[in-house]
Amino acid sequence: MEKHLTANELRQKFIDFFVSKEHTQISGASLIPENDPTVLFTTAGMHPLVPYILGADHPAGKRLVNYQKCIRTGDIEAVGDPHHLTFFEMLGNWSLGDYFKEEAIAYSHEFLTEVLGLDIDELSVTVFAGDDEVPRDDVAFEMWKSLGVPEDRIYFLGREDNWWGPAGETGPCGPDTEMFIDTGRPSCGDDCRPGCSCGKYFEIWNDVFMGYKKNSDGSYEEMSRKCVDTGMGIERTTAILQGKQSVYETEVFAPIIAEIERLSSKRYGDDEAHDTSIRILADHVRTSVFILGDQRGVAPSNVGQGYILRRLIRRAVRHGHKLGIEGAFLSALAPIVFDLYSAPYPELLHNQHFVLKELAGEEAKFSDTLAKGEREFEKMLPNLMKGKDRIISGRTAFKLYDTYGYPLELTIELAAEHGFTVDEAGFKAAFEKHQEISRSGASQQFKGGLADHSERTTALHTATHLLHQALRMVLGDHVGQKGSNITVDRLRFDFTHPSAMTSEEIKRVEEIVNEQITRDLPISFETMTLKEAQEAGAIALFEGRYDEQVKVYSAGDFSKEVCGGPHVAHTGLLGHFKITKEQSSSAGVRRIRAILE
Ligand code: ALA
Repeated sequence: MEKHLTANELRQKFIDFFVSKEHTQISGASLIPENDPTVLFTTAGMHPLVPYILGADHPAGKRLVNYQKCIRTGDIEAVGDPHHLTFFEMLGNWSLGDYFKEEAIAYSHEFLTEVLGLDIDELSVTVFAGDDEVPRDDVAFEMWKSLGVPEDRIYFLGREDNWWGPAGETGPCGPDTEMFIDTGRPSCGDDCRPGCSCGKYFEIWNDVFMGYKKNSDGSYEEMSRKCVDTGMGIERTTAILQGKQSVYETEVFAPIIAEIERLSSKRYGDDEAHDTSIRILADHVRTSVFILGDQRGVAPSNVGQGYILRRLIRRAVRHGHKLGIEGAFLSALAPIVFDLYSAPYPELLHNQHFVLKELAGEEAKFSDTLAKGEREFEKMLPNLMKGKDRIISGRTAFKLYDTYGYPLELTIELAAEHGFTVDEAGFKAAFEKHQEISRSGASQQFKGGLADHSERTTALHTATHLLHQALRMVLGDHVGQKGSNITVDRLRFDFTHPSAMTSEEIKRVEEIVNEQITRDLPISFETMTLKEAQEAGAIALFEGRYDEQVKVYSAGDFSKEVCGGPHVAHTGLLGHFKITKEQSSSAGVRRIRAILE
């Protein structure tokens, strides 16, 4: 029984196995998808293959195999436990209108039992239970049974568990069969089954039977040419094969963690809080190196992939500090990632210089923020010491956050080191009060526009940002805001443009805004200097002091604008956008009225 495979060995064995079954090995794609604006990163091996699954001929044939770098950032904050990763590698084999369920399951079975040496008794599988639209997958059930999996370890589950895709908002999808290793641990109760989070079952492979196409109106269409798409996560499977409790215990992370231990003089496994920080640092540095070092690599920024990268780097820096690491450390950790991965991903070495430069730059910038916050805190200390209670007021904590970008979490930590607690409720109150002040600030800025703070006006304010960007896209960069006024019923926006808009232009602007609403973009803000805002390409009136701190609001990767807020949390809350009037306001200035239906 050959179980003690490394990630590199598993990758190679998978490729070799499917090549021996007449599959052609194809290269993995960039982490940054080319033709899908609905997702920021490649999330599965099938993602770059969508056009071929939908019917196009692939130049390499009908049977394909590869390994693909993937990023799933659904919840960055969840990373830190022993199981979550933001970056992972996926192994996959595909049939593009060639073999289907029975052969796919037979291949999976052969690879698991004969190549990986798993005992059939260690396996549990799930198959689609069927619903009103798509029938129960008896073919998959019978196939597993014929291969020796006892009926009581074949589970019929519904759409939540046994339906996969599409990868973006539309595209191919279908019922799947998932393979789990039963760790042999006692079950957590009568309801425990593969898919349960108690840790008894670990999913290692998913065979998707791509038979449907989801359209943008939400309907499903059966595809005449059926495909197979499979996915096996390398890190997870390696961990399970090696009998490890966690991906972080495998050789994929060992050298990164060893270096973090050396830099921090902490030992992984000694203290739960430190372990969490070590895992966050190890995961985030690996992912950051892959984003920067990608063939289409991006630098940290305030939008899109660059924004995710920035969050990852900053979170890594914060946790490095928590571990007590002094000085810059990301560029010390990055070379370990190069060593681990440059054979399967040579682009990392080609982009080595860029990766190191950007990591160091972003780390220095954020460390600066952290250092400033700490210095201010130290300055406040003597006064704080005079107080009776060992409590830092919410206002003080908020000042550190608002003026220096110093996160509350770190204020709490710093405070604790000096025997203080922080009035967190007070912080929240100060935060909310500030938002109201920003609102009234904004209402001045918008000439009485945001007098009402209701959800409706907030939504119209966000819609104004989308409109502004859409106008610039359709009419040109000469479009600048001249005035804005918002009531509960409508927005009004004045902007520079020499002539009346055509009905096509109006329609196009509406379409663009509504597209961004459908994309459900997250709205976020960052505090920076006006100069930085300009460098980041934010829309603003670049007047006033360039070192002044401003807030820059981003709607996903679509728009970026200097503004006081407030905004809705994500664009999906807006409803349908419609321009009700376009007219002249004064010479060279047009006025639009628009509503959200
Ligand atoms: N595309 C499938 C998955 O990601 C195989 O699980």
